[in-house]
Formats: sequence, structure tokens, C-alpha cells
Amino acid sequence: MNIHVINGPNLNMLGIREPEIYGKETYRDLVYKISEHAKTHNLTVTFTQSNHEGVLIDAIQNCYYEKVDALIINPAAYTHYSIAIRDALKILDIPIIEVHLSDIMNREPYRKNNMISDCVTFTISGKGTEGYIEAMDYLITVTNKVET
Ligand code: DQA
Repeated sequence: MNIHVINGPNLNMLGIREPEIYGKETYRDLVYKISEHAKTHNLTVTFTQSNHEGVLIDAIQNCYYEKVDALIINPAAYTHYSIAIRDALKILDIPIIEVHLSDIMNREPYRKNNMISDCVTFTISGKGTEGYIEAMDYLITVTNKVET
């Protein structure tokens, strides 16, 4: 299985940015953790991180052109207001797992507004970087079910 992992604005600042909320692991640590988990499960994983909405949309559209099997996405703040990212996700007919490091439902009220949750297969929120690993495990389980 070939998975693309997209991370939105400010997630390149993990470890530096509000560590009491987002943890001490850096973006590099996150990529390493996901890549190691992918290796042990024979998955191919590619990454996009951008602070720009259009770049994230291009990355979502590329999942269609590159025939990616599944998408894991943390659109960060765009989650709460980007109709354009929502529209791009609607193009894809593959499992999409939405991940948030923090528990967005139990923070500021404006974070409860979620433009994408009804366009994704599954949402994992508030589990830190483990959320990405859980997303991969979920995809492995779903794929195995389909294949058997
Ligand atoms: C986030 C939560 C968003 O509300 C916030 O804007 C982020 C990160 C998370 O991973 O917890 O940048 O998506």
C-alpha cells in the first residue's frame, strides 16, 4: 500500500511551537516515526508539508494522478475554514484519515468548526504523533479486510 501524508501550516515547527499542546517531537521526528512504522509493515509512504493552501491542494490532487492508495492528512488551521481543501478531498475516492495532534473538540470554540470531517473516512484527534501511527494501523486493517 502506498500512503501519502500531508501536514499543513506550522506543523514544520513541531517541537518548537507550543510544545505543551503539540509535544516535543519535531517534524523530522514525526517523519522518521511514520517511515519506520511503514518499513515494518511494508508500506510505501511519501510526505508533503506546506504552509500554503495551494501547495496542499496540489498535493491532494496528486494523490489522484499518482494513484495513491490512501491519504493521511492534518490540514492544521485550514481544517477549520478551508472550503478549497474540502473540495479537493472530495475529488479522491480512497480512504482519507484526518489526524490532529491535539484534541480539537476540547480547545477554543473556533476549533470545533471542521470543514473536512464529513469528507474523511475516519478522524483521530488528541493522540499526539501516535495518531499518525494509529491511522496507518487502521489503513492496514481495512486493506487486509478488503483483500481477504
Ligand atoms: C492541529 C489543530 C489545529 O486547530 C491547529 O490549527 C493546528 C494543528 C493539530 O494537529 O492539533 O495547527 O491540526
